[in-house]
Amino acid sequence: MCGIVGYIGTDKALPKVLSGLKFLEYRGYDSAGIAFVKNKSLNILKEVGRIENLDKKINAQEETYVSIGHTRWATHGKPNVINSHPHKNGKFTVVHNGIIENYVLIKEKLIKEGYSFLSETDTEVIPALLDYNYSISKDIMVSIRDTIKELEGSYALGIICDDDLKHIYAVRNGSPLIIARDEKGYFLSSDVPAILNFTNKYILLDESEIAKLSFDEYKIYDTNLDEIRKEEKIFDGTPDSAMKGNYEHYMLKEIHEEGKVFKDTLNYYVDNYKFKNTMPNFKKYNKIHIIGCGSAYYVGNIGKYLIEEYTNIPVLVEVASEYRYKKNFYDKDTLVIVISQSGETADSLAALRKAKEDKIDTLAIVNVVGSSISREADYTLYVKAGPEIAVATTKAFLAQTVLISLLAVKFSNNLNLLKEYDNLEKHICNLLNNNYEKYAEAIYKHEDTFFIGRLIDYALCLEGSLKLKETSYINSVAFQAGELKHGTISLIKDGTPVIGICTDENIINKTISNLKEVKARNAYVIFITNEDIDEDFYDLKLVLPKVHKLVMPILSIIPLQLIAYEVAKKRGCDIDKPQNLAKSVTVE
Ligand code: G6P
Repeated sequence: MCGIVGYIGTDKALPKVLSGLKFLEYRGYDSAGIAFVKNKSLNILKEVGRIENLDKKINAQEETYVSIGHTRWATHGKPNVINSHPHKNGKFTVVHNGIIENYVLIKEKLIKEGYSFLSETDTEVIPALLDYNYSISKDIMVSIRDTIKELEGSYALGIICDDDLKHIYAVRNGSPLIIARDEKGYFLSSDVPAILNFTNKYILLDESEIAKLSFDEYKIYDTNLDEIRKEEKIFDGTPDSAMKGNYEHYMLKEIHEEGKVFKDTLNYYVDNYKFKNTMPNFKKYNKIHIIGCGSAYYVGNIGKYLIEEYTNIPVLVEVASEYRYKKNFYDKDTLVIVISQSGETADSLAALRKAKEDKIDTLAIVNVVGSSISREADYTLYVKAGPEIAVATTKAFLAQTVLISLLAVKFSNNLNLLKEYDNLEKHICNLLNNNYEKYAEAIYKHEDTFFIGRLIDYALCLEGSLKLKETSYINSVAFQAGELKHGTISLIKDGTPVIGICTDENIINKTISNLKEVKARNAYVIFITNEDIDEDFYDLKLVLPKVHKLVMPILSIIPLQLIAYEVAKKRGCDIDKPQNLAKSVTVE
């Protein structure tokens, strides 16, 4: 997601704008740029990659007091310097967050008027259109008003005009934008945390309102260009609390974003029960290898069950740190799928490179746009989880599960299966709103826990168990239910929590038998199911909605994440930053 920061005032502008941009890093980006006024002219600097790359190019102590900056998350056109913001066309320079849906039509109109375009972006039509409208009205405010009447889509804009280098203009529709002030000047920003190092006084710009920031004041106008008064808000909290919103932890906030993440990921690939062209054609492959680390590897396990269930394609799943060193049996009809939230995990990247060296086609399933794995794979499919800050992945896991299930449908070529996603969002919201306290209460005082299930339920056990151990430091082991009696059952003591996941009706009775075996040895059984079964082999039951097997894991994971969260909270753990763990593991 792109981010915008701007500053005009009596302090030097660049340290403030760069500081704001660094705060916006959490939104994800692949390039950054800045425009600033010096010696009565406008300078633009842009760089691909991290803000540090831009920082190195800039003298932050530059005598400039007017600047707008941007972090770009590529949508139209690759992440490169030309496509990065700010974009200048004619007399106008613009930073933009959002998407202009009718940019092709506007571009055609402006080309006829003699404008030319350098980038592949939708954004570049905005400065050109501002310039065109300004050439008619000779008034910046009027040209902004006329321009936003023509723009369709969402936008938050920071604007500077060559004829008026003593002001920054801002306007929004759909995308957020705030205006803030400290003792020395005025800011615009995509969100509050980005300016909290300098001030906590801000106003929210409403749809189509135009802000005009000067060295000594800011003014807000409506679409009739009449000045309006807006109430200033005071943010009472830290940058961290601003980003967490009303949630106590990022993990909880991110779990609660799962309804949106589901919808965004599905809608990016599917429209009206058909795949969009964002989903490539994979017809030629008859063998699949799925590679990942940690939770991404467990998504691979879910993928294996689903792809093998709905197609005749055999799937091998391997952890990347093994795959990169072993002998692999693949050929030109094999597709190697690398799953990685960060797109930077060293072992996953090495496994991808190995497959590429062997000239095997590779597909990346990645959350972070522009990451190494996404750049190096032959195909990249992004999940639409948005930035994930808690170390233990939750919403990205769910998004990857949605996408791998869609791949199973794609490989099966049975588009009827796409109907199964219909009511899921409602079920997700219901599951998010349930109370998981009693399950956590039954677990949190124990030092050992077991998760058991069969087939796809076992894949969910792996992730549920990992979530519990990484956030709460309880030793937790996931077992294929039938294997428990071959050794591990000796560890069951009075009250040991055993969580049984049973959503596959074909083998539910088999897993129930295993739960009875542990119950007979005095385990504390938590039975998670989508079936209406009321017996006495469990101590607690958690009922999931009954949906098609294809989409069941998208729901099954939610209570497991929330139980892990509640247990970690009861044990007073550092939930968002568990001991010894890192979000992105870039060492072998
Ligand atoms: C680390 C994280 C895990 C994550 C794994 C793979 O170990 O702590 O939560 O699942 O890396 O990360 P990736 O970014 O490749 O999905």
